[in-house]
Amino acid sequence: MVHTIAIEPTTNKKPKPSGERLEFGTVFTDHMFMLDYDEGKGWHDPRIVPYQPIELDPAAKVFHYGQTVFEGLKAYLTEDQRTLLFRPNKNIERLNLSNHRLSIPALDEELVMQAISELVLIDRDWIPSEPGTSLYIRPFVFATEPLLGVAPSRQYKFMIILSVVGSYYQEGINPVSIYVEPNYVRAVTGGVGHAKTAGNYAAGLKAQEEAHEKGYSQVLWLDGVHRKYIEEVGSMNVFFKLGDTVVTPALNGSILNGVTRNSVLELLRHWNIPVEERALSIDEIAEAHRSGQLIEAFGTGTAAVISPIGALEWQENKMVIHGGTTGELSKRVYDTITGIQRGTMEDPFGWTV
Ligand code: COI
Repeated sequence: MVHTIAIEPTTNKKPKPSGERLEFGTVFTDHMFMLDYDEGKGWHDPRIVPYQPIELDPAAKVFHYGQTVFEGLKAYLTEDQRTLLFRPNKNIERLNLSNHRLSIPALDEELVMQAISELVLIDRDWIPSEPGTSLYIRPFVFATEPLLGVAPSRQYKFMIILSVVGSYYQEGINPVSIYVEPNYVRAVTGGVGHAKTAGNYAAGLKAQEEAHEKGYSQVLWLDGVHRKYIEEVGSMNVFFKLGDTVVTPALNGSILNGVTRNSVLELLRHWNIPVEERALSIDEIAEAHRSGQLIEAFGTGTAAVISPIGALEWQENKMVIHGGTTGELSKRVYDTITGIQRGTMEDPFGWTV
């Protein structure tokens, strides 16, 4: 079903960035999408309006109890001027899984797809084309009911904003140093680790800050129960090449089901590279490093796509990986996924829309 989305075009177009290195998520486009929810009425009033601040009651539940979820995906401009989205259905599906976990009413997935498409097309001339750049799409939902009782909100907003982005890490696809976090944990099974909700990111900030102070870019998260199984790296999923096999932690309820994670798994299987999704302990990684079997490691996420890990510090043991340089597999995966995303490489999976 095609929905009618009201459109109020801006009368005040903003200047676009011109080639400078952009800090991730700092430059926003001319328009944004909004949709309201009221109990009894459901989701209503889809509209695209000029990008602008919004007004909220100070008692809005999102401020107090964190009932909010978000997504992140990207749009690219191809050499022949087509606009491509990368696997948007996966993000839209996950948005509703996150909504479900946070007791937020489900969104109509067709309407979300239409909203993303229409908004991106309206702000199409903001999509950058230099290598490593894209238009980052940030859909998000938050509870707006002004009421301090702890219960699911009866009012929400769903919005989509767009940001022109360069590479996520200053280092680009260069390897980062990672501190294996011994104290803080990100999430536990049964909690909200598999949902893309703000609290997971807030919970990670302290560890990230302390890792920065020690000279590391990010932390490697271990599980909250045994404090030994690897979960994620920073806000990304994580892969290790051990000998000839690529291993990533299995989705256990506390790990985010990343779209890039899923794409990397499909790609590796397509290349007939042995892959395993299973529990993977930090001791196994340390042992693989000792025996020369830790060949490569990398994080995967929408923002950075692939982020090679050049070193891991665990209990004063600094494990340098691939001589601190980007490994062949990390580079091959990065080149293939970004090539498919920008339409410069064949897409045998039908990932781009
Ligand atoms: C991603 O890797 O895309 C993330 O989820 C990080 C994002 C919160 C900036």
